[in-house]
Amino acid sequence: MKPSEVALVTGAGSGIGKATAKMFADRGYGVVAVDLTAEGLSWTGAEADPGRYVTVAGSVTDEGLNREAVAAAVDTFGRLDVSILNAGITGSKPWNESGAIDALRHILDVNVVGVAMGINEAASVMKSQGHGVILPTCSTSGLRGDPGNWAYNASKAAVINLVRAAALDLGPFGIRVNGVAPGPTETGLTVRLNQMPELKQAMTNRIPLGRWGQPEDLAEVFWFLASRAAAFITGDTVFCDGGISANAGHFALPEHPR
Ligand SMILES: NC(=O)c1ccc[n+]([C@@H]2O[C@H](COP(=O)([O-])OP(=O)(O)OC[C@H]3O[C@@H](n4cnc5c(N)ncnc54)[C@H](O)[C@@H]3O)[C@@H](O)[C@H]2O)c1
Repeated sequence: MKPSEVALVTGAGSGIGKATAKMFADRGYGVVAVDLTAEGLSWTGAEADPGRYVTVAGSVTDEGLNREAVAAAVDTFGRLDVSILNAGITGSKPWNESGAIDALRHILDVNVVGVAMGINEAASVMKSQGHGVILPTCSTSGLRGDPGNWAYNASKAAVINLVRAAALDLGPFGIRVNGVAPGPTETGLTVRLNQMPELKQAMTNRIPLGRWGQPEDLAEVFWFLASRAAAFITGDTVFCDGGISANAGHFALPEHPR
């Protein structure tokens, strides 16, 4: 029997995308899981259990890959209700370092153009259905700057405004578009910070709730925004960051009593 609802998740090989794909599948969705390689998606067991997951390997920078992923949802499950455009990279280089502008172009290609292509392909199916939800992954780094992270900062600021603009254009077709913005979250993207415990602790000290996010914290926000409970929310970005974006950063937070 085909699942009654279907989600596509990019960047499903690791971290937030993996936790989100798993949560949607565990709660009854058919899931199209997208990531760079088939090996990265082997955790889905899609070959053994084709009823729950379909996997599509390739880069979100490729328009054909985005088309293929949406076609996989329609061909396998007959519909596409939710598209979670979550694949993203960091990798800003210092100003004036060789390759800094090439790095910017690559980051914008994955984090902004990849998301725009994902919106474009999902919208083509969702318009004909008369409904759908599109949820790009943003970041607290899209609100302000981080030292040494300028290309990533620019890309995530662009996604926050892309969400608003797409919501205006697609709302009349019954399509909602919202962002989910993580703060510091324990994933493959941030694992190198485990080698820098002092820096990691300094970041934790800026988070009012006193801990880093877990991928499942973010998955729950995608779940809410995809649901009927969020039926009147569009063009917004939900910050799921333990409160770090509420902090102007001028003063140290009070000592955590725990
Ligand atoms: N971890 C954090 O602290 C944090 C904070 C704010 C925002 N984010 C955002 O969350 C999203 C998910 O990142 P994560 O933290 O889970 O990192 P992650 O590295 O664990 O997972 C990202 C996944 O995206 C895949 N990917 C990268 N480039 C791709 C491409 N071109 N095509 C297809 N797949 C690609 C990777 O292979 C990986 O499996 C990203 O958009 C990231 O910018 C993360």
